[in-house]
Parts: sequence; C-alpha cells; structure tokens
Amino acid sequence: MLGIIFTNLLDMVEDKMGYAMVDELLLSTGLDGSYTGVGHYDFEELLKIVVALSEKTGIAIPDLIESYGEYLFGKLMQNHASLLPENITMIDLLSELDSNIHVEVLKLYPNATLPTFSILDKSHSHIVLLYRSPRQLEQLAVGLIKGCSEYFDETCEIGLETMNSSPHEVKISVNLQ
Ligand code: HEM
Repeated sequence: MLGIIFTNLLDMVEDKMGYAMVDELLLSTGLDGSYTGVGHYDFEELLKIVVALSEKTGIAIPDLIESYGEYLFGKLMQNHASLLPENITMIDLLSELDSNIHVEVLKLYPNATLPTFSILDKSHSHIVLLYRSPRQLEQLAVGLIKGCSEYFDETCEIGLETMNSSPHEVKISVNLQ
C-alpha cells in the first residue's frame, strides 16, 4: 500500500489526538513510522496501526477507517486537486473513478493497489457502484465519499450492501439530498 496512505493516517492521529498518541501507537505496534509518501508498505502494517488505535481509543475499527477516509479526501485534494476535471460534479467524479481518477493516480504512482468501481446505476442525483477489492476497505470508500461531498458542498446518504464474499464485492449507493 502506498506510503501516503500511512503518512496521512499518522497525520490524522496527530491532528485529532496529539503526537503522544502517534508515539504510543508506534511503540505498541513495534513499527518505526518512518514512512515516505511514495514508498510501499504492507497492508497488514496499516491494519496493525488501525487495530492498535481502536484498542487505545475504544472507537470501532470500521468507524476509524471511515473517519480516516473523510480526512484523506481533503488531504488528497490539497495535493492532487489537478487530477479532477474542471467543473466536474460529485456524481460524475464517482462515476469516473475507474475510467479516469484512479487511472491518473496510477500514472503518478504506478505501483498503487487500487480497487475497482463498476457503475450499476446512475442519475444526476444518485449513483450505485459495485466496489471490488481484496482489501475490503468499503468503509474507507464511504469516508472518501463523505469527504468528497464536503468538498463539493453536497449532502448525501450512503448505503452499503455486501453482495459477495469471494471475491469481496460491496454495493455502495449514494443519494444526494
Ligand atoms: C470519492 C472518491 C474516491 C473513492 C470512493 C476512492 C476509493 C478508494 C479506496 C476504497 C481505496 C483503497 C484501496 C482499496 O480499496 O483496495 C483507494 C485507494 C487510493 N486512492 Fe482512491 N478513491 C477516491 C478518490 C481518489 C482521489 C481523488 C485520489 C487522488 C487524488 C485517489 C487516490 C488514491 C490513492 C493514492 C490510493 C492508494 C493506493 C495504494 O495504496 O496503493 N482516490 N481509493
């Protein structure tokens, strides 16, 4: 998994809970925390950090992953807003994850491990996507979509429905209010 996913996670912990928590996490997981944005690290390491954070804060793992997604979208936009086509709407962005946004991500970071999002249904105010990834990070997707709605100043309702366990497939419905 790409280093920016790790560096931004530790940044979020520092922003929201202070550096002492980052220190505690690294001590308890035995990780040294010296991630670089363009490096690649084991996905299991990310899970270790999230599990330790959940134990220390009492916040459930899916809730932590979702909050992280929300935080991450803002961070991605700080550095990569130019990846978004001009005047794109939120629904169009969500419909272009596979055909455009993550394609551009792969050009920047050729070893990125990305999910796939197929479009099951779409109108100007809603979209239904099928998320597929062995990493099972649909809660991260939900958080990213929440962060995306804040970025576009939209309000939306997001629904999740697991469709299949192997391969892991989850239907994500987004309805703008
Ligand atoms: C709301 C829109 C988006 C959604 C729902 C989304 C979803 C996801 C998810 C769920 C992952 C985790 C990997 C996995 O599930 O297998 C991921 C990874 C990633 N996404 Fe997106 N994404 C969105 C927008 C973006 C944008 C705008 C950027 C860049 C500016 C971006 C860059 C990345 C990067 C760099 C990774 C990490 C790849 C790796 O670790 O190797 N995403 N995305």
